Amino acid sequence: MKRQMQPPRKARIGSRSSQSRSKVRPKKRKAESDGANKKMGQEIWHRKGLEMVGDERCLSGVDGLDNILAGGFLRGGFYLIQGDPGSGKTTLGLQFLLEGLRGGEKVFYITLSETKQELLQVARSHGWSIDKIPVLDLSAVENLLRPEAQTTVFHPSEVELTKVSQLLRDEVRKTQPARVAFDSLSEFRLMAETPLRYRRQLLALKQQFAKFKSTVLLIDDKMDTREAVDPHVLSLTHGVIDMEQLSPDYGASRRRMRILKLRAVKFREGFHDYVITTGGLSVFPRTIATEHRAQFRPGSVSSGIKELDALFGGGLDRGTTTLILGQAGTGKSSLALQYALHMADQGEHSLIFTFDETRIVMLSRAKGLGFNLEKAIDDGMITVQQVDPAEL
Ligand SMILES: Nc1ncnc2c1ncn2[C@@H]1O[C@H](COP(=O)(O)OP(=O)(O)OP(=O)(O)O)[C@@H](O)[C@H]1O
Ligand SMILES: [Mg+2]
Repeated sequence: MKRQMQPPRKARIGSRSSQSRSKVRPKKRKAESDGANKKMGQEIWHRKGLEMVGDERCLSGVDGLDNILAGGFLRGGFYLIQGDPGSGKTTLGLQFLLEGLRGGEKVFYITLSETKQELLQVARSHGWSIDKIPVLDLSAVENLLRPEAQTTVFHPSEVELTKVSQLLRDEVRKTQPARVAFDSLSEFRLMAETPLRYRRQLLALKQQFAKFKSTVLLIDDKMDTREAVDPHVLSLTHGVIDMEQLSPDYGASRRRMRILKLRAVKFREGFHDYVITTGGLSVFPRTIATEHRAQFRPGSVSSGIKELDALFGGGLDRGTTTLILGQAGTGKSSLALQYALHMADQGEHSLIFTFDETRIVMLSRAKGLGFNLEKAIDDGMITVQQVDPAEL
């Protein structure tokens, strides 16, 4: 009963604080509360700002990639670039930063998997100078952190990850880059050991990058084929690009990429082929026939042989496809060539793709028909493109 008589604990605290507040003059109190509200508002706005990614885009620096991304990366976005070993992830990262440099932006390359020397080799093979790209080389992180790891009671991996994260955050604060390439996440994942620690550290990094509106490419190796994307990273990113390197039974490797996720953007879905040549990656956005419909003049295409044209009611209809079938040696190639050569005489261009016939055979065949194919090629009326089927 005695207990019930006492005022509740909360109420007592309240009365004490209202007593002390009553000593503050009302005007000052209002100013204080306004100040507190303003501060809280600023904080909320600031937090919103961290998560907010505007519509401003930054170009990737890779031919064709901006097309499939529907205009480039969102400024301030956090992207995952994952791919097979040797698929060109580092090259893409460097192209992205070089594009930033061209636009006068601050850039930053964080490497955990390749040494600065190896990065320089990649750049050199493409004829790039990366002198102006600040590189934070953490590939020798074990040596960097060994003394601390030995003198603490913590597990070395714990010290390592916390130290690396701290180092990264400090460097980001110092450099405040507009573009960052982080190569690669797999080292970071190994350091974290547990998924929870990995996710926490990534989140902390994301927040630090977001403070400076940095557009970040997180590069990751695709070792495990069970999961399409690491779920710990997936939910933290604005977009995921998957790069593949396929090795068919014959011919050269084939490379293709696909956007697995892109928040709030209508991107070009499906697989897009890409090549790596001296100068970097070039992506060939998947062709959609309806986007390439062109106007043409209706009419017919003549072979120059009256009887043959009569069989088709005056010639082949423009804008249509005709298949010429026949046994070996029946003159299929010669017939096709006849059309191209006659149309060249009429001032019309032709493009010939040849698979197993060499240019010399074509030239002599045309000579046999009484045409000068070489001249038509030199004049630009006929273009012959040899295709090596084994390289397709
Ligand atoms: N000048 C060049 N011309 C054509 N291809 C090149 C050139 N330089 C490098 N390559 C190709 O680029 C590929 C490697 O690119 P990159 O190092 O960016 O790949 P990565 O995905 O980062 O590889 P890793 O898994 O080793 O980190 C190699 O397969 C190499 O054949
Ligand atoms: Mg690499």
